[in-house]
Amino acid sequence: MAQINDNYLKLKAGYLFPEIGRRVRAFAAENPTAKVIRLGIGDVTRPLAPAVIKAFHDAVDDLAGIDHFAGYGPEQGYDWLINAIIEKSYKPLGVELKTEEMFISDGSKCDCANILDIFALENVVAIGDPVYPVYNDTNVMIGRTGEADEKGYYENIVYLPCTEENGFIPALPTGKVDIIYLCFPNNPTGTVAGREELTKWVEYALANDAVIFFDAAYEAFITDPEIPHSIYEIEGAKQCAIEFRSFSKTAGFTGVRCGLVVVPEGVMGTTGTGERYSFNKLWLRRTTTKFNGASYPVQRAAAAVYSEEGWAQTKEVIDYYMENARIIREGLQEAGFTIFGGMNAPYIWLKTPGGLTSWEFFDKLLNECNVVGTPGSGFGPSGEGYFRLSAFGHRENVVEAVERIRKNFK
Ligand code: MLT
Repeated sequence: MAQINDNYLKLKAGYLFPEIGRRVRAFAAENPTAKVIRLGIGDVTRPLAPAVIKAFHDAVDDLAGIDHFAGYGPEQGYDWLINAIIEKSYKPLGVELKTEEMFISDGSKCDCANILDIFALENVVAIGDPVYPVYNDTNVMIGRTGEADEKGYYENIVYLPCTEENGFIPALPTGKVDIIYLCFPNNPTGTVAGREELTKWVEYALANDAVIFFDAAYEAFITDPEIPHSIYEIEGAKQCAIEFRSFSKTAGFTGVRCGLVVVPEGVMGTTGTGERYSFNKLWLRRTTTKFNGASYPVQRAAAAVYSEEGWAQTKEVIDYYMENARIIREGLQEAGFTIFGGMNAPYIWLKTPGGLTSWEFFDKLLNECNVVGTPGSGFGPSGEGYFRLSAFGHRENVVEAVERIRKNFK
């Protein structure tokens, strides 16, 4: 009989967001008249920008005719998209990248998971706590860890607690690690990291021959000009960091699917026999073997984000969500909640009132206000006693949710 990958059995029963969905469906079935407002998963609600829609339609028309028909594209993405991203999104930051250093994909969640293919299992991995669960769970799935302890920490992973005391910014590991996951603006806490903070991490990585996985999925929500959008704004990062970006939150592509990874040629690891080897070459090899590229219409739609019109329209949508974030942040602060995040980031991280656990608060909010959020403990043990609200809802729902919470917790 075929044997299963036992590592999967080490995982908690379900992934966080489907578990929330299951509870909300059960609640809705029992309370069919309740108007449930969902501010849980960070899923966008605004339509795609008109320039993006037009490019999408045009690309489908291309596929309908002989002259512009497109079959398999380059596995790592079309040059016209990669070069548009480099020109519009990296050059203005003072970051020079080669076309060969960027890879277009069908989304950042897959990239964050797939990157583990090109790293040996022996590498020691450091992960923040709380954290986007994909980083932790994919390391368990691939077999890098032992079992979880009673708190939920897996053996062989170095956890870096992010607490109110350290401003939700993890301290550098005390020992040597080989891979460090960083996510700024942070999911779930909405914290941002300044230049000085990121410089510490790059210096650590260079000194320890470590690689930083920098998840910049939320960089488009930064408004403060002092906050870096890319790890490559920090000197030396092109020797030690791989960056992930996503069109999901930036341009409303959660259902369309498009992301990108930057693997600079200077990021090196060692072979089993001790020679230095470029991760870029390995990632290219992996990509060309296991992936046939994001679809042509999706890449055309993604390229339209970087057109003059598309850029302005996309920015308007981001501003809309950031206004939601302000409404949630200020509304709940006035209601007496202790609030973090929600500035330069689309997530609001709040302390649960009255010492409630994260799941107790989830149930209370769902039952009494019919509002769905995400329990902080779902992101890791240090998230216990916290709760995340997403700013990606419809404006009227956001306003109503804040009103309901304010009334209920008066
Ligand atoms: C979240 O709510 O944390 C995100 O939407 C999940 C994701 O991007 O996969």
